[in-house]
Amino acid sequence: MKYARIIGTGSALPEKVLTNADLEKIVDTSDEWIRTRTGITQRHVAADGETTGDLGFLAATRALEAAGVRAEDLDMIVVGTTTPDLVFPSTACLIQHRLGANGCAAFDVNAACSGFVYALGVANAFIRSGQKKKVLVIGAETLTRMVDWTERESCVLFGDGAGAVVLEASDEPGILATRQHADGGYKHLLFSPVGVSVGFSDAPNHGVKITMAGREVFKVAVKTLDSLVGETLADAGMTEDQVDWLIPHQANLRIIEATAKRLNMSMDRVIVTVDKHANTSSGSVPLALDHAVRSGKVKRGQNLLLEAFGGGFTWASALIRY
Ligand code: UT7
Repeated sequence: MKYARIIGTGSALPEKVLTNADLEKIVDTSDEWIRTRTGITQRHVAADGETTGDLGFLAATRALEAAGVRAEDLDMIVVGTTTPDLVFPSTACLIQHRLGANGCAAFDVNAACSGFVYALGVANAFIRSGQKKKVLVIGAETLTRMVDWTERESCVLFGDGAGAVVLEASDEPGILATRQHADGGYKHLLFSPVGVSVGFSDAPNHGVKITMAGREVFKVAVKTLDSLVGETLADAGMTEDQVDWLIPHQANLRIIEATAKRLNMSMDRVIVTVDKHANTSSGSVPLALDHAVRSGKVKRGQNLLLEAFGGGFTWASALIRY
C-alpha cells in the first residue's frame, strides 16, 4: 500500500451567523471595509456551550458516513486545533470516545491555522510507513472564543467551524507530497499573550486573545506561500498546469488571489469559502475541501493543492490526487 487516499469528507458549522452588518453595530467598522480588505461577508459563531469537540465530532461523523467506514475500524484520529475544549485530554480523545472508537491512537496537533494540513502530513506518514490503515483527520476550531469583540482589527476576521477527512491505505495514488515548515522567530506578529505559564488575567476571555500585526503577517504569508507551492510541486515532479484545484487556507481573499497568480491559476480553479466562513484557522482547509467535494466541483482523479499559513509562523501544504 503506497498511498494515503481520501475516501470521505465532512464538515460542520455553527448555526448562528454573524454578518458584516451585525459587526457594524458592535465595532467601528463597515461592510465595505471588511469585504474589500478581506473578502469576508459573514462568519459562523459557536453558541454558548458549543465546543471545538462538538463541531469536530459532527464533521467526523459526516466524513465517516461518506467514507462508509465504522468508527471502530479507525486506527488513528488526529485533530488540528488551537482551541481545544480542554488543555487535556486532547480534543482527539474527546471525539474518539463520542465516536465509539476507543483504543485507537488519538492526539491533537497545534500548528495554529496550519493545524489541519500539518495533521494530514502526520497521518500520511503513518499510513505510508505501513503503521496505520484507516485514519480520521479533523481540523476544528472555535476561534471566536479568543476574539476581543472590542478590537475591530481582529474581531471581523474570524469564525468557527470544522472539517474532516477519512484516509485509507491504498495502491491507488492519493496524497502525493506534503510539506511542513515553521519559524518561531515570528511569534511576536501573531500570538495569544496568556497561557498556562504566563498566567491568565481579568481581561475578557481571561486575556486569551488573538494578537496580530495584520499587515506584516500578510506580507510574510504571501511570500512564504509563493515558495511553498513551488517546492510542493517539485516534490511530486509536477507542474502548475497539472493542478486542477487550489484549496487554500481561507484568511484573506487577497492572499488567496496572490497565491493563485503565482500558480498561473484563474480564480475559477480556486475554492473560495472565506466569504461565507471567514478565517476558521485549522477548520478552513477541510471545510473548503468538503464544500468543494459535496458541490461536485472536485472530482475523483483530479489534483488538489492544499496550503495553509498561521501563527508560529507555521506553513504547510499537501498535493493530493483525489
Ligand atoms: O490565518 C492566520 C494568518 N492571518 C492572516 O493571514 C491575516 C493577514 N492580514 C490580513 O489579512 C490583513 O492585513 C488585514 C485584513 C488584517 C488588514 O488589512 P490591511 O489592508 O493590511 O489593513 P491595515 O491593517 O493596514 O489597516 C488599514 C486601515 C487602518 O487605518 P489607518 O491607519 O490607515 O487610518 C486601520 O486602523 O484600516 C483600519 N482598520 C479598519 N477599518 C475599519 C483596521 N481594521 C478595520 C476594520 N474596519 N475592521
